[in-house]
Amino acid sequence: MTNCRLCNNKLLLINNFGEMPIANAFQNKVNNAQFTFNLQTGFCNKCFMFQLIDQPPPEKMFHQDYAFSTRSSMFMIKHFQNVAKMIKTNFISDPDDNVLEIGCNDGVMLEQIQKYGVKNIGVEPSANVAEKSQEIGLEIINDFFSEELALNMKNNSNYFKVIYASNVICHLPDLNDLCKGITKILKKDGIFIFEEPYLASIIKKNSFDQIYDEHVYFYCILSLNNLFQNYNLEIFDSEEIWTHGGSMRYFVSFKGKYPKTERFRNSLHKEVKLKLDREETYLNFNKNCEKIKYDINQTLADLKNKNNEIVGYGATSKSTTFINYCDIGKYINFISDTSHSKINKFTPLSNIPIKDYSSFQESCHSFTILFAWNHMKEIFKKETEYFDNGGNWIVYVPEVKIISKEEIE
Ligand code: TMP
Repeated sequence: MTNCRLCNNKLLLINNFGEMPIANAFQNKVNNAQFTFNLQTGFCNKCFMFQLIDQPPPEKMFHQDYAFSTRSSMFMIKHFQNVAKMIKTNFISDPDDNVLEIGCNDGVMLEQIQKYGVKNIGVEPSANVAEKSQEIGLEIINDFFSEELALNMKNNSNYFKVIYASNVICHLPDLNDLCKGITKILKKDGIFIFEEPYLASIIKKNSFDQIYDEHVYFYCILSLNNLFQNYNLEIFDSEEIWTHGGSMRYFVSFKGKYPKTERFRNSLHKEVKLKLDREETYLNFNKNCEKIKYDINQTLADLKNKNNEIVGYGATSKSTTFINYCDIGKYINFISDTSHSKINKFTPLSNIPIKDYSSFQESCHSFTILFAWNHMKEIFKKETEYFDNGGNWIVYVPEVKIISKEEIE
């Protein structure tokens, strides 16, 4: 596919990360014959959407063994509880006001909405996490969101005051179908709120590890404006948030329903200044990705030559792109992770063993690559002992750097 998924204009090839496995395809044993696809990005200079060129079929990514669970981070739990509070306080005024969450995962946000006594429904395609939501008493439709699903909901007279999605809309290849679905079931004065990794942040931080099979689009206001105008929708507010290493929360309504906010105008202005609508920005981003690949290889080879033990922290989905593109699996003894679904498995294609947290605490290693860099604050707070014992962190966002205790004091 070389044309824009949205406007069919010819795409400009930006990144070519090579053969890549499914980011969350953690393996039960070493497996050298995994499904791979060519991970490449393209930029559309007509509608400004930065996107994947090819994406594997959805059933390869979202299924019974989907490994991501919202409850793996205390900060994320708090984040979703705050989202529920924000929705309840700002947008729920009538007892009939209903909330729909698209991609509700294991139900942290809806659980809180439920506690506030607000009517709600979740849609979640991955059966294992959908079941977790059902176990805590939530009403869940185990399916992908689509216009067809929205029409079924409409037949059951479900209109929503708030439709919310977190880190989900960038997963949906057919945004035209999404918009058609949203317009079918959003109340006239309803608000569609979604938050996704923010393209401006990815470009500024060179955080190319956000690019993997599940993330088919990388959004900014400039590109989303072009999409929504086709569906009588518009962004009226936007809020930069810390999740996923820098995200944007977009507030969307039918055209003209709510006044545009100052912070929306400021963000738009910043995007124009950052030239998110220009090819040169993306070509330059690719050069930065190549430099990071070169630098991490130099750094790790040097440390290994000096007989240092190197491990990883957080077997994140993002790390699959980083490890395979940079080809650094050979340097890493194991990766520590707290998610039960990943422990004792192997990383996709690079086959690095994933061990439980106690292995990290007990083993003697002087360098740890922080793959869960988006949780850096939480992790550094928790790992003061590692620093005290002379441990060093290797980070690669926005550039490759070794952080020792002195460095953060
Ligand atoms: P995420 O970046 O997609 O949220 O994934 C974070 C991964 O890192 C997840 O597998 C859990 C793991 N993790 C730890 O192992 N320890 C931690 O302290 C945190 C915050 C995350």
